[in-house]
Amino acid sequence: MQGKILLVEYEEETSDLLKKVIRNEGHSVDCVRSAEEALRLLGNSPYDLVITDIALPGIDGIELLNRVKEISKKTIVIVMTSYPSLETSVEALRAGAFDYITKPILYEELIKIIKKAFDTCYLNRISSFYSDEFSDRYDFSNIVGNSNEIKRIISQVQKIANARSNILVVGETGTGKELIARAIHYNSVRADMPFIPINCSAIPENLLESELFGYVKGAFTGAVISKKGLLEEAHGGTVFLDEIADLSLRLQAKILRVLEDHEIRPVGGNQSQKINLRFVCATNKDLAKEVIENRFREDLYYRINVIQIKLPPLRERKEDIPLIVRYFTKRFCNEAGIPVKEISNDAMQRLIDYKWPGNIRELQNVVERAVLLSNGNIITADDLPDTLNDDSPFLNRAIDEKMSIRDYTKSFILKYENLYSEQQLADMLGITRKSLWEKRKKWGLLKKQQRPE
Ligand SMILES: Nc1ncnc2c1ncn2[C@@H]1O[C@H](COP(=O)(O)OP(=O)(O)OP(=O)(O)O)[C@@H](O)[C@H]1O
Ligand SMILES: [Mg+2]
Repeated sequence: MQGKILLVEYEEETSDLLKKVIRNEGHSVDCVRSAEEALRLLGNSPYDLVITDIALPGIDGIELLNRVKEISKKTIVIVMTSYPSLETSVEALRAGAFDYITKPILYEELIKIIKKAFDTCYLNRISSFYSDEFSDRYDFSNIVGNSNEIKRIISQVQKIANARSNILVVGETGTGKELIARAIHYNSVRADMPFIPINCSAIPENLLESELFGYVKGAFTGAVISKKGLLEEAHGGTVFLDEIADLSLRLQAKILRVLEDHEIRPVGGNQSQKINLRFVCATNKDLAKEVIENRFREDLYYRINVIQIKLPPLRERKEDIPLIVRYFTKRFCNEAGIPVKEISNDAMQRLIDYKWPGNIRELQNVVERAVLLSNGNIITADDLPDTLNDDSPFLNRAIDEKMSIRDYTKSFILKYENLYSEQQLADMLGITRKSLWEKRKKWGLLKKQQRPE
């Protein structure tokens, strides 16, 4: 695609050279030496792409970027910087820059980035053409809550859904990270393209690579045909990388390459192909700490953490509990085909008082169970699990110091194993699924279906 480009560069020599390179590629280009002049031209006619230096006399490149985005969201901005520091680059990406390029500028790199920008711009055009009919598919009604925290999150999602930036969703287990990731996708121009969730901790590392990147025929024993990877399936849409902290360092390097070059190469293949993806990543770990402890690549951290959405634990927004309880009660009663049950006051109080280590998912499970167990049309405190009791030794209180960690963990597993998936149990205990399995094995707590034949 050929486009109309505005180049903002103070130094005449550089400007002349870049102009030639860009013209050679068949684009039309206007050059100016300051942001003020650029804004004047932008006010007169639209440009597809603005390439601007960050250091300019007067208004600087970042401020120009902000103003360009105010004038037209569709105009793509690429920034050039002579002092490559992660902070300025991240700041530029955060403000909505498509990408950044460091000086001295390599012509091939510049051409590559321009092409990439126009490919994306083309894709956005076709997808926004289709997405009108889908736009009301996601209206946030399934994100229940009335607290300031939830309101702030919904408005943040609305604001950033259409930005091109990658997003990191953080929060404890069960706080709604996947729900938010879907809301972002279905409120973006990519809504009619695929949303592909990938749980990095659920798939063994050797399988994960071929799941993500696909493989060519003969890549390994058993690869009798070529297979498309999930990333390719997601082309044009959103990839949701769940539990990103569990990605091995080797795959972190490969994902970083996808983010930087927008290319994928199947396992065993020798040809790369272009790909257009938006990444929404999620984790319940402290990624900054993972970086310090060398388990997570710093460069990847900066790439995925351009915009961060932090989901508060349920215990920090207790005012949402009654609303959510009623929402789930209604849903499960409807699903069971019975009249919607009421909740007694002391049952509600107990639900409000509990600390909810498993957050909304735990609350959802408790309500589902109570709906099914309660006899009349009122859910009472007796229909709630004992774990919610004030005098329960579990999580609700600080760990009893006389109880060893081992005993605590053991009884925790026994109490919760029927209420949660293995992954959730492991998350709540802060251990991996593998080590949960090992503990169970050691203590003879494996369930029948988990025992090796
Ligand atoms: N605000 C909310 N309103 C209604 N339901 C919610 C809300 N937040 C989460 N849920 C529900 O709670 C459950 C857990 O949410 P989700 O799977 O998105 O959490 P998560 O943070 O990805 O959890 P995990 O870390 O365990 O993977 C889902 O069934 C989701 O629909
Ligand atoms: Mg999840």
